[in-house]
Amino acid sequence: MTTLQTLKSQAQKAMKKAYAPYSNFNVGVALMDENNNIHLGCNVENSAYPEGVCAEAGAISNMILSGGKFIKKILIVSSGKQMVTPCGGCRQKIKEFSDENTQILIDHNNEMTQFSMNDLLPHSFDKTHLPR
Ligand code: THU
Repeated sequence: MTTLQTLKSQAQKAMKKAYAPYSNFNVGVALMDENNNIHLGCNVENSAYPEGVCAEAGAISNMILSGGKFIKKILIVSSGKQMVTPCGGCRQKIKEFSDENTQILIDHNNEMTQFSMNDLLPHSFDKTHLPR
């Protein structure tokens, strides 16, 4: 299996675990960190709707908890009819742990589309803007 095939099958496995009874929209994420360890996430909704958590946020939390510090590749799958790219908040969350070489991969209908962070969040805010 190639790395991308592994990430895809892991993301699909994560997507099956999604708790999304309100939107019925399942999202799964598999990300690879700087040590080639893989971390998974799925969306977890809540009856108080804004309290739901996106799949990307869950995968990033799992990476940090396991000691990973950097996202080399992040692959996202969802149950919708259209290709889904990360929401605005998740773009900012991914940015915190990526650089221009980070691959943001969306698999939809067996087609892989690749974006860079700059494709998804140009002119964005990051730690370089903060006073030291
Ligand atoms: N969702 C994600 O998990 N990631 C995204 O990037 C887009 C949206 C989830 C949040 C919510 O549980 C459902 O998809 C519908 O918005």
